[in-house]
Amino acid sequence: MADKMRDMPRHIAFIMDGNGRWATKRALPRTSGHAQGGKTFRAIADACLDRDIEVITFFAFSTENWKRPKAEISALITLLNRYLLDWFSEERAKNTRIHFLGDTTPFSKDLRELISRAEKTGEDISHHLNIALNYGGRADITQAANAILKKRIAAGDATPITEEEIDLHLATANMPDVDLLIRTGGESRISNFLLWQSAYAELYFTETLWPDFSEEELDRAILWYRTRDRRFGGLTSN
Ligand code: FPP
Repeated sequence: MADKMRDMPRHIAFIMDGNGRWATKRALPRTSGHAQGGKTFRAIADACLDRDIEVITFFAFSTENWKRPKAEISALITLLNRYLLDWFSEERAKNTRIHFLGDTTPFSKDLRELISRAEKTGEDISHHLNIALNYGGRADITQAANAILKKRIAAGDATPITEEEIDLHLATANMPDVDLLIRTGGESRISNFLLWQSAYAELYFTETLWPDFSEEELDRAILWYRTRDRRFGGLTSN
């Protein structure tokens, strides 16, 4: 336990797990769990912005989620559509920039247009809300390597690739690394989320199912993070 509190985390990432189980426990369809999870997503995103967290990233849809039933996939897409439509009239959209991490090409033209409009909304940006959609951490690193390779080949340059260059070609370019990664739903794994960006993240795993995750638990997780001794591989804390 550190004797002095760390600063607030600059970047918090969320793996929102447990929607299906939340619904099953109540004899409801899984899609009701996602609808409730969508409400929690809104509440927790707002709570993080209220606490002045600079970057928040939510895992909304992984590259593996295509294996789910069509009806469940379309329920998730409908939730996202609704959220984006509401976003344009939100006060927060003025100083928060939405970014989509991942390959959005398989989604409909309408959704892609909405995404691109949302990514352009707002001036005077001080906060970033990332929504990982059809995202995979390995795919992110691979696309960064390929983007660099393409530039190298065009320039006839054979110098070794640096970590800084990879950083700058990831979906999170120019954003701070993840400080605190929160996963709900009882599993203790990263599931191909922000692999590179979470290299030194503190990992907070909770049994709470995502629809039940609250502002109070967010505060507990932040407090837990602030009392961690982060050494980044060295002997002294930062
Ligand atoms: C995992 O729970 C959750 C997801 C695959 C989807 C997360 C998406 C939301 C909470 C909605 C977000 C909405 C917007 C607008 C970004 P699970 O279904 O795997 O739960 P289980 O492990 O209990 O089955």
